[in-house]
Amino acid sequence: MGEFRRLLSFVLPYRNLLIISSFIVLISALIELSMPYIIKTAIDKHITPQVAKLNKVPKWYKDYEDAFYEDYVVLNKIPNHLRLELEKAGYLSNERYFIISDSAENAIKFKDKYIISVEHYKKLKDGLFLRKDDVKGILMFGGLYILAIIFDFILNYLQIIILTLMGQRSIFEIRTKLFNHLLKLPMIFFQRQKVGRLVTRVANDIEAINEFYTSVLVSFVKDFVLILGIIIIMLIINVQITLIVLLMIPFILIASAIFRHFARNAYDNVRRILGELNGFLNESIVGIYVIQAFNSQNYMFNKFIKNNNDLFKAFLNLVYVFGIFMPVVSLASSITIALLIYKGGLDIINQAFTFGALVAFINYIEMLFGPIRDLSEKYNTMQSAFIASKRIFLLLLENEEDKGKGIVLKEVKGRIEFKNVWFAYENEDWVLKNFNLIVEPGEKVAIVGPTGSGKTTIMNLILRFWDVQKGEILLDGVNIKDLDLKFLRSQFSLVLQDIFLFSGSIEDNVFLYRKNGKLGKYFEYLGVSGLLDLNRVVNERGISLSSGQRQIISFARAIANNPKILLLDEATSNVDQETEHIIQNSLEKLLENKTAIIIAHRLSTIKSAHKIVVLYYGEKIEEGTHQELMEKKGFYYYLYTLQFENV
Ligand SMILES: Nc1ncnc2c1ncn2[C@@H]1O[C@H](COP(=O)(O)OP(=O)(O)O)[C@@H](O)[C@H]1O
Ligand SMILES: [Mg+2]
Repeated sequence: MGEFRRLLSFVLPYRNLLIISSFIVLISALIELSMPYIIKTAIDKHITPQVAKLNKVPKWYKDYEDAFYEDYVVLNKIPNHLRLELEKAGYLSNERYFIISDSAENAIKFKDKYIISVEHYKKLKDGLFLRKDDVKGILMFGGLYILAIIFDFILNYLQIIILTLMGQRSIFEIRTKLFNHLLKLPMIFFQRQKVGRLVTRVANDIEAINEFYTSVLVSFVKDFVLILGIIIIMLIINVQITLIVLLMIPFILIASAIFRHFARNAYDNVRRILGELNGFLNESIVGIYVIQAFNSQNYMFNKFIKNNNDLFKAFLNLVYVFGIFMPVVSLASSITIALLIYKGGLDIINQAFTFGALVAFINYIEMLFGPIRDLSEKYNTMQSAFIASKRIFLLLLENEEDKGKGIVLKEVKGRIEFKNVWFAYENEDWVLKNFNLIVEPGEKVAIVGPTGSGKTTIMNLILRFWDVQKGEILLDGVNIKDLDLKFLRSQFSLVLQDIFLFSGSIEDNVFLYRKNGKLGKYFEYLGVSGLLDLNRVVNERGISLSSGQRQIISFARAIANNPKILLLDEATSNVDQETEHIIQNSLEKLLENKTAIIIAHRLSTIKSAHKIVVLYYGEKIEEGTHQELMEKKGFYYYLYTLQFENV
């Protein structure tokens, strides 16, 4: 039940709506319960003949003076058990009479009215007119029935609106909370998760919870009231027949339990495979460029067919399970009605049951099996909602990024120091081994080294996407862990080899939604105004832009942020020769008056750096200016000549 409470916790702020809704549902259930009873009353009071002739008048007739007149008795004016008593003691004759308002041929005076036997009534021409009291009664009950339907309709409508409102509000909250939380989760979280799966899962989970709120939560109340109410009313009308009717219930419950077991497995399968299929679809579309370029369509297609087949089978399996359960319930309901007609019919003949009651019972039994049938489906919805809310809760429980100890420096000079830094992404696979580096304010420091040496890692550590295991990183002498994380990151601008663009305007991509402003000046400053129409719309991931254009946007993004320190991670390695020339100039503008750490493939771009650090699989093996390192004829010299030869 902890899961149930957890699910309820989301709607707790809207408990008023929940209470109102439950109340409405309760009234609606009562109305629905009353409807077969209205039919029963109409039939028993006004349709079937009311008066019976007595062979003998019982002694207790004085207690029900209303009901007796000479040798006649109005059957529905005496309680059921006395009627049975009359029947059993053989007091009742088989003849039946209608009550009519005026005298007619063969009519018998009955207090201030008349009665006429069914036989004689049939021969009358103006029979309907004479039974005008009954006609009035039928009209009244008919009207009552229609009123009940209308009222029930209005209540159901209200209830749907209120529940949807409540469900959507809670979902709105959950979505907001989740997104806000996701934005703050540390890199390590996103590394552990398959992001595509995460997205589909969160969307599905939220939908499952919504489904629970709108179609399960309150209808449980209704189903419960209905089932209980039906059983109570049936017991009041006739205990014996009710007990016979309820014989089928245990079978249904057992069948439900079996069904639930299989349905859950089948559902789980469908969900799992659907998730996989969606993930695969997502990846295929994102990677379509590669797929088409390498003619991998067939391979991908075959893989998809396999997934699709699995999904097909899983759904089929689900249908098998459902397909057997629903008919079982229908069968049970039919058997119950057959039992009812047999036993009830006999009892009607024996005067122990009324025709109206039989009709009402048939109605009630249908009403009873509806919720029982739905219950299993709702159980599944509930199960998914439980799982969903658990996952969402766990997600919300994930630790957010460490926000630092809150120190904010008044003035940042931009001195960065790595002091005996050891770092591993996992366990003890050291990516940086006792790494030391000092970047003085205004300096441009280049880092070079073979791929996988840990260059990008250095950037990740400065921005605290990851934290070092040993040693420390200082900004102006303060450990970056002590600084407020937001403050720390606001000192830097990161320019990556693969710039990430969001779909939307170039403006939004440059300012990252922080503000609006004139874009032109940044591009002018960089000297690249002619390269890109600033009104262009960026599509998803910017695939309609050339890599040079993307790179320019990333430069603009970096200076629009007006950072103290620039971090360039192979910023120009994606660009063709011609644009590189243009970008080289804008790069110089970008770096003007800034502290910078530059990782570069093309060593020509870093010749002018104040300091070059050569990283070799986590260890600094050389450090110095271009000149110094060339003279040293070490690894840098080797890298440089290698590139030079290739050009
Ligand atoms: N998020 C990560 N999780 C685990 N290992 C990583 C992660 N990022 C990089 N690595 C590993 O750390 C090492 C250094 O990577 P990186 O700093 O990206 O190298 P590069 O010098 O090419 O930029 C590589 O062996 C890489 O596989
Ligand atoms: Mg790298």
